[in-house]
Amino acid sequence: MIELRSVSYTYPAGVRAVVDVDLEVREGEVVAVMGGNGAGKTTLLKLMVGLLKPSAGSVLVDGLDTRSTPLSRIARLVGYVPQIADSLFFLPTVEEEMTYALRNFKIENGAERARELLRAFGLEGTEKRSPFTLSGGQKKRLSIAVVLSWDPKYVLLDEPTLGQDKAGREVMMGIVRQLSSQGRSLVIATHDVEFVSELSPRVVLMGGGRVIADGRAEEVLSDEELLRKARVLPPQSVAISSRLERFGVKRTPSIRELHDQLRSLLSRGGGCSESGTR
Ligand SMILES: Nc1ncnc2c1ncn2[C@@H]1O[C@H](COP(=O)(O)OP(=O)(O)OP(=O)(O)O)[C@@H](O)[C@H]1O
Ligand SMILES: [Mg+2]
Repeated sequence: MIELRSVSYTYPAGVRAVVDVDLEVREGEVVAVMGGNGAGKTTLLKLMVGLLKPSAGSVLVDGLDTRSTPLSRIARLVGYVPQIADSLFFLPTVEEEMTYALRNFKIENGAERARELLRAFGLEGTEKRSPFTLSGGQKKRLSIAVVLSWDPKYVLLDEPTLGQDKAGREVMMGIVRQLSSQGRSLVIATHDVEFVSELSPRVVLMGGGRVIADGRAEEVLSDEELLRKARVLPPQSVAISSRLERFGVKRTPSIRELHDQLRSLLSRGGGCSESGTR
């Protein structure tokens, strides 16, 4: 479990980025952290992996305090994929990026594992290239593959769908679902509300460095008032279903549920007549 106990973080410049956060990420859980620009999502993830140490409170990873535990020990457990992929790369080729941590953490069958991951992320054929020559979307996928190479128990993804085209998003969704079905804990900081409503995880909503809501995606993403406060756009399905509430449609972030509701409404033979207007 990753535990944040009354955690605050103030950058040296004086910005209070995270304020008094209590949060637990349990094993096998998928958590989406959402909120507007500057809400504190990236700072929260950096605190979870020990790249930043709390100014107040404490962060524990499987009981290890990030303040007193060597970063390498925490990093073996918690893999952090940064918002800007480039910041992770420092070696001349994709292949070397993929095998560096495997050697460091003394993981067996490293070369094979690296090949499998590159294939799963649609990156085969790039092995001899410099990571910096890849496209933005490819870099993002490579950065996730690099972090998964050492098989961390907790994976923190900062804006995984940023800059991804349709195929890239599908690869990302497939990977997230696969990791989740393997029982891995995932924390995903994202603005991509459609991605989150499709995934339907636990949602932690941040605003001004604080957690302002924590609940199932179906509840949090259906609350337009709350989303407005957190400067998060509601999913299209919520925008549509809330406009149809007067026809008896229940507000939902799930496209599938909206589809089912509309089908049953139409099959009742009435079409979309407003009650009392026929
Ligand atoms: N290195 C830094 N030095 C000083 N202030 C910083 C630094 N990094 C972030 N901040 C500030 O901390 C606050 C939280 O930033 P953070 O990057 O955690 O937000 P975020 O929710 O990830 O935003 P975004 O959606 O834009 O990625 C912001 O006010 C930001 O300006
Ligand atoms: Mg961020």
